[in-house]
Amino acid sequence: MTALAPSAPPATTPDPACFSAIARERLPALLRRMPKAELHLHIEGTLEPELIFRLAARNGLSLPYPSVDTLRAAYAFTDLQSFLDVYYAAASVLREEADFFDMAWAYLERAAAQNVLCAEIFFDPQTHTARGVPFETVIRGLHHACQRAHAELGIEARLILCFLRHLSEDEAFATLEQALPWRHHFIGVGLDSSERGHPPEKFARVFARCRELGLHVVAHAGEEGPPAYIEAALDVLQVERIDHGVRCLESPDLVRRLAARRIPLTVCPLSNVKLRVFDSLARHNLPALLVAGLCVTVNSDDPAYFGGYLDQNLVETFAALPQLGAAEAYVLARNSFEASFAPAVLKAAWVAQLDALFQAFALGQG
Ligand code: HPA
Ligand code: ZN
Repeated sequence: MTALAPSAPPATTPDPACFSAIARERLPALLRRMPKAELHLHIEGTLEPELIFRLAARNGLSLPYPSVDTLRAAYAFTDLQSFLDVYYAAASVLREEADFFDMAWAYLERAAAQNVLCAEIFFDPQTHTARGVPFETVIRGLHHACQRAHAELGIEARLILCFLRHLSEDEAFATLEQALPWRHHFIGVGLDSSERGHPPEKFARVFARCRELGLHVVAHAGEEGPPAYIEAALDVLQVERIDHGVRCLESPDLVRRLAARRIPLTVCPLSNVKLRVFDSLARHNLPALLVAGLCVTVNSDDPAYFGGYLDQNLVETFAALPQLGAAEAYVLARNSFEASFAPAVLKAAWVAQLDALFQAFALGQG
């Protein structure tokens, strides 16, 4: 099988011969074992049906589904909106600080077990404040889980506050006001929810304010929306990363810009298949994005809903796309560290671990 030989930096540290020395049947183990960062993960999208039922019982709420299995069976989505309707409804079981903690802790334990060294986690405060849950309750629970994960699991976990794009910019400003007393509990802001009909321009002023505050800025764009939304996210919102971005390939000029500036794309393969952005993993454009020299990363988006966490995304995607081999696994993991907002010293230490693992696999010691 020929490797894709991605043309762009970063230059690979291991000898290229190292990649060809790793047999294809070792790929699933390599993908699971390799250290990596997860940069596109909605914490509300990690609420497993079992936890939804447990929290509903704890909070004295009844659910419109008689069992975990019937709830899971309702996860048959036709597009982004059909998913978001279920996702927001399920989040209504989250009421107390302990609920937010339990949800985030469950994710962080799983992530650490999958060798995720760094997780930059989205949360949707407006989904909760609209139901009367104080912002403070949400952020305290999530932050406590991140702190404990650092101490006990050795994972760097940071929060990114997402504005819901189906709501108004004034509502985003009101959320930012509520968040400012907790400014040091989150590293940046993002933009999620229904993409079509809600272009980035709608949030130009609130993103400008967030940049002035020194927050990192990212946005979902080019998942269902056109390449023009990716351009607006870059030009108007001045984002540092694009979440999804897979539709960029429709515009060669845009691809050149993204590649030249090394703007990361946080791609989510299982999500894209579940929400019908692509018909199947075998038809996903991840190989083409890599060949175009883009700084692509693989992520799980809403793993409780889309069929798997980060390892499952990697293993299934590599199994479906024979163009992807050990060299591409290395590039994806390395990109994930490069694209993170972590300090340079941590990134260098993580890349050193990555290099050591690939060398061990090449020597048959993995
Ligand atoms: N796209 C947009 N909004 C979201 C998503 C997504 O994949 N997941 C949770 N909110
Ligand atoms: Zn997302």
